[in-house]
Amino acid sequence: MPLRKKISVTALIEEKGASVYWINDDETVHVAVAEMNRHRIGSLIVKRDSKVVGIFTERDVLTRVVTSGRDPKVTMVREVMTADFKWITSDSVVEDVMQLMTDERVRHLPVLEGDQAVGMISIGDITRWLLKVNQMEADNLRRYVSDEYPG
Ligand SMILES: NC(=O)c1ccc[n+]([C@@H]2O[C@H](COP(=O)([O-])OP(=O)(O)OC[C@H]3O[C@@H](n4cnc5c(N)ncnc54)[C@H](O)[C@@H]3O)[C@@H](O)[C@H]2O)c1
Repeated sequence: MPLRKKISVTALIEEKGASVYWINDDETVHVAVAEMNRHRIGSLIVKRDSKVVGIFTERDVLTRVVTSGRDPKVTMVREVMTADFKWITSDSVVEDVMQLMTDERVRHLPVLEGDQAVGMISIGDITRWLLKVNQMEADNLRRYVSDEYPG
């Protein structure tokens, strides 16, 4: 059974759940950061009129809010979110997702269907997946070596 190649993002979403945490683009950065901390996550999907219009991440807080001395209590998410964000679909392949994260230096990739978000994949999800795959491959090899396979 191919454990690594050609596994689609659907498998990771089935494992971690399809929940999507989001915020409206006219909320303040203060409210957004409170929401991220409440869920212990590093990103929020940004919506306007129920459509996905961007992503707001820990990196945006560092580079667009703190560094430029903006007041989180009056700065709106849409002023500091990433609008031209990278995204994937449910049938994106894990290998390609890793390449995209590496090439584009992003750790969060919304899973989109049209202008709706159906999931989120982070670098931690990929790491956890690879750990699981490595463990399964090691178990398979151990079984093979100890000749547990019939015939
Ligand atoms: N033990 C686990 O199952 C697990 C899973 C993921 C990450 N982690 C660890 O947590 C730490 C931070 O992880 P990270 O860098 O991947 O970022 P993160 O803290 O943003 O991600 C943590 C989890 O929240 C989810 N998440 C983040 N933003 C979301 C959103 N807007 N909507 C829905 N889900 C969202 C991610 O998919 C991931 O499953 C790392 O040390 C990582 O290894 C552990």
